[in-house]
Amino acid sequence: MLAIILGPPGSGKGTQAAKLAEKKGLVHLSTGDILRNAVKNETELGLKAKSYMDAGDLVPDDLILGIIKERIESNNNVLFDGFPRTVPQAEGLDLMLAETGSGINVVLDLDVSDQEVINRLSGRYFCSSCQATYNYPNKLPKREGVCDKCGIALSKRKDDTEEVVKNRLNVYKELTQPLQDYYKKQGLLKTVNGEGNIEAVFNDLVSILDSIKTG
Ligand code: AP5
Repeated sequence: MLAIILGPPGSGKGTQAAKLAEKKGLVHLSTGDILRNAVKNETELGLKAKSYMDAGDLVPDDLILGIIKERIESNNNVLFDGFPRTVPQAEGLDLMLAETGSGINVVLDLDVSDQEVINRLSGRYFCSSCQATYNYPNKLPKREGVCDKCGIALSKRKDDTEEVVKNRLNVYKELTQPLQDYYKKQGLLKTVNGEGNIEAVFNDLVSILDSIKTG
């Protein structure tokens, strides 16, 4: 199974992708998490990506396609989260997959309003070690301010300030939303109301994945 989870910033892609990957035995491949780790570890990729991420802009397509190529060569059971983000990235992915005789099976598209995105991101905290996300008041950690799994203090993402979130939403509409048409034309797009609670959205997504037949 090769699946993509699409949606605006803060729509719940990471939250749902982690749960779906566990339930369906998929590798959760989040370009955002890979890039944040690279920035934290000050790798060559991280140094190139940092200024784009801090401003809420997209990292150049060639860097992203390089990250993906390395990781999918030996894997055909993947849930892509935050990738592709532009039509050229989607075309690049299709070419890579065609070389291995495979293709995307389904694109899960989370529909969430701008106001809900702003509310969710203003309450988001994350663990810089395991990348788990929490939310005040929607998904509280067991102990206030501390990651349930790692026991370390939770942080705010640098790109979750109001100004940067507005830019991320604009970038999404201009560069990422065209992917809805790209995948609709291929008959792969399944849009889900992402504004229900985490479990309700999860159940809808599981039903879709359960209905997909893979080659
Ligand atoms: P990335 O990390 O992919 O950020 P994003 O797409 O902006 O999405 P988020 O991670 O902010 O949100 P999400 O949809 O995963 O929501 P979450 O589950 O956390 O990318 C960051 C940056 O990296 C980009 O801006 C760019 O610079 C770069 N980048 C990454 N990929 C790239 C690519 N392919 N090309 C170029 N550049 C790239 O949920 C949000 C909050 O809401 C959480 O607090 C959560 O607990 C809560 N929540 C989740 N679901 C619900 C619900 N149903 N009800 C209530 N609360 C909920």
